[in-house]
Formats: sequence, C-alpha cells, structure tokens
Amino acid sequence: MMAKNKEPRPPSYTISVVGLSGTEKDKGNCGVGKSCLCNRFVRSKADEYYPEHTSVLSTIDFGGRVVNNDHFLYWGDITLNGEDGVECKIHVIEQTEFIDDQTFLPHRSTNLQPYIKRAAASKLQSAEKLMYICTDQLGLEQDFEQKQMPEGKLNVDGFLLCIDVSQGCNRKFDDQLKFVNNLFVQLSKSKKPVIIAATKCDECVDHYLREVQAFASNKKNLLVVETSARLNVNIETCFTALVQMLDKTRGKPKIIPYLDAFKTQ
Ligand code: GTP
Ligand code: MG
Repeated sequence: MMAKNKEPRPPSYTISVVGLSGTEKDKGNCGVGKSCLCNRFVRSKADEYYPEHTSVLSTIDFGGRVVNNDHFLYWGDITLNGEDGVECKIHVIEQTEFIDDQTFLPHRSTNLQPYIKRAAASKLQSAEKLMYICTDQLGLEQDFEQKQMPEGKLNVDGFLLCIDVSQGCNRKFDDQLKFVNNLFVQLSKSKKPVIIAATKCDECVDHYLREVQAFASNKKNLLVVETSARLNVNIETCFTALVQMLDKTRGKPKIIPYLDAFKTQ
C-alpha cells in the first residue's frame, strides 16, 4: 500500500556519468573529469569538493564496501527544487575503470565487459555498496557518512557523457573523440537520453570545444553543456537539462555558454 501521507514522493531518477576511462595508455595521466563533476553536483560546498579522486587502487580498497569490486561508484543522491517548486531526487553513478596499483591493469571484476559496453548498462546492482565520498574514505569507511546504494536493481534513466575540452595530459583529443564515438553508439542502444558535458571549460581549448559541438550537431537532440567542476559552472544545469528530457512537464533550463554562465555566477 502507498503511504497515507498527502505529500507525494518526489520522482526519483538515476543518472550515469560516463566518459573516457581506463589505463594510462587510454586516458593519459589524468581523467576527463567525471568524478569532479559528480562531486560538485552532489556536494557543491567548497569544503566538500575534492579535486583528486584516484582510480588506482589496492586490491583491498577495490574489494572494500565502497568500490565493492565494481567499476562504478555510487555518489549518493540529491534532491533538487525545480523553478516551479517541483522536487526531484537524483541518484548519481560514475562509470569508471579501477586500476590495480601493483599491475597497473584494470582490476578484475565480476563484469568482464569492456568499459564501453559496461558503461552503457541501464541496470545496476551491488549488494550493500556504500556511497563514495573521497579517496581518503577508502579503508576508513567508519570515519565517514555511511549511506547505502538502494538495494535491488537500480535503473539508469539517462547518461551524462563527459568530454574533456582542456589540453589534457599526454592524451590526444582525437583518441578521446574516437572513444566517445564508440561509447555514444552503445549509449544510443539503451534508448535513454544523453547529454554531453564538456568538462574543464575553465581551461578550454577552443577548437576542441568546437569539435565537440560539431560531433553533437551531427546527432539528433544531443545537447552540449559547457561545464567546469573546478569553478562550479553549469554543473547543476547539465543534470537538470537531462532531467527535463526525462520529464517534459518540467521547465527547460537555459543552457548558457561557459563564459556567460561564469560571469553571471
Ligand atoms: P577516471 O575516473 O580515473 O577515469 O577519471 P575522471 O574522469 O573521474 O577524472 P577526475 O574527475 O578524477 O579528474 C581528473 C583530473 O582533472 C583531476 O586532477 C581534476 O582535478 C581535474 N579536473 C576535473 N575537473 C576539472 C575542471 O573543471 N577544471 C580543471 N581545470 N580541472 C579539472
Ligand atoms: Mg573518476
């Protein structure tokens, strides 16, 4: 039976944050900004933002309750108030690839699919998995807030596809785009909405951003939101834009370019 209280429960969505991941050979020596985007969205306060989230882990940390032998993280949930006062709850998942600190190869998980296939999954499950907060939490779970990922299968409702438009670190932009192209094909198969978050726009290389825009304009209905997790620009917007695609009765957020959004902060 439904609860008797008059207040209906706010609708709840699960958004999966994806983008180039893997060994140093694949992604260069820094990630494209998935973790920082998630961190900024679920914990936007300045003192709760961690700029470094390592993906190189010991076997013990990989098997701990936070990572839980998965190549994805549960970042918790956040309740948003729409302009029209309609609330919604968003669960955030990051699809990444954890690397063994001994072999520098991906950790062996129960799911043996390659990243591109795995990241497009629209059903996720992990028994008693704990919300991830920061790297220091691994191994010291008792010292941090302990919140469990919802039990049973979590249905992914949409994808935020991160593309790093900064200079990157010894990674070729073209290689990233090739990866993203393949990943996008897989995401499309899920039939769930996708939005592109151009990440690290505070260090934007203009022609990279233009290439991302060109990539998106070739696809039907693919929006690009120019974000910076470091400076907290357009982070909430990329999530609310995705939620609007899931619930068309919500007001459309205005998508404004990075520089304008930065100025109006
Ligand atoms: P993996 O999960 O390992 O694949 O990486 P990731 O995609 O989660 O990347 P992560 O968020 O860990 O960021 C990688 C690096 O980019 C870190 O050093 C971040 O501080 C930096 N970074 C992330 N977001 C921004 C941003 O908005 N601006 C700038 N300038 N740097 C950023
Ligand atoms: Mg990450």
